[in-house]
Amino acid sequence: MIELSRQPLLKAENLSKSFGGIHAVREVSFAVARGQIKGIIGPNGAGKTTLFNLITGFYAADAGAIYFNGRSLNNLVPHQVAERGVARTFQNVELFDRMTVLENVMVGRHPKTRAGFISAAFSLSKARKEESGIRDKAMEILNFIGLSERAADPSTSLPFGFQRVLEIGRALATDPLLLLLDEPASGLNAGETRELGRLIGRIRDKGITVVLVEHDMSLTMEVCDEILVMDYGRTLAEGSPREIQQDPEVIAAYLGEEPFA
Ligand SMILES: Nc1ncnc2c1ncn2[C@@H]1O[C@H](COP(=O)(O)OP(=O)(O)O)[C@@H](O)[C@H]1O
Ligand SMILES: [Mg+2]
Repeated sequence: MIELSRQPLLKAENLSKSFGGIHAVREVSFAVARGQIKGIIGPNGAGKTTLFNLITGFYAADAGAIYFNGRSLNNLVPHQVAERGVARTFQNVELFDRMTVLENVMVGRHPKTRAGFISAAFSLSKARKEESGIRDKAMEILNFIGLSERAADPSTSLPFGFQRVLEIGRALATDPLLLLLDEPASGLNAGETRELGRLIGRIRDKGITVVLVEHDMSLTMEVCDEILVMDYGRTLAEGSPREIQQDPEVIAAYLGEEPFA
């Protein structure tokens, strides 16, 4: 056990993925320690989302290896990766429109039930019968993310910022060891972004390791313990927020964008 807890929770070694002639991810290696909030930043098209898709089994890597909690994730499909304890949110909010706020979180719970992954709606109806505990657990999560008063509302009635938070709630319903967030602050105003930063901190305080892909520099610099900078599919730099802010290569890659303004 001691051995395992000393290992990084997530380790990527020389990961590569191309689409036709585009090298979306090129020989990227990094590690995420348990209990860490790791940021991944980089200009649009740098390969950040592709990296998440490789980790979560949405894409198979052309080369390289991914280890999670001491075991290889290579060749697993998304639901198998989820079952190992990796949850994610998407760059574009993906909620179930016809379900309530509570049901959206209950659906997130289904990998933990016998209902399986057949279809979200089918799983929900089975999940309802399967465990009354699912509802309690989902309510607990809504309390945690501050949406319990909206439990019975249709998810589409939520303001956009709350829809993003709900998507995080659904990811938390799987009881993940690792949570991957893909630009969770995009579309949020400054106040909502600060609130999100506090939520991410509280998620980490529950013992969940977080990888945050983000465009919002103030959020990234504030909440992350360590940051990986990608550019054209490659690792440009890796270090503490302070080191990254002072790195000449990072500053050069962002010239004109004023990332740290
Ligand atoms: N499914 C795909 N098919 C073709 N090209 C893709 C696909 N996914 C990503 N890409 C390309 O890979 C590169 C990296 O994209 P992406 O990982 O989405 O970057 P980021 O999330 O950093 O903005 C881009 O050039 C993008 O167009
Ligand atoms: Mg992206």
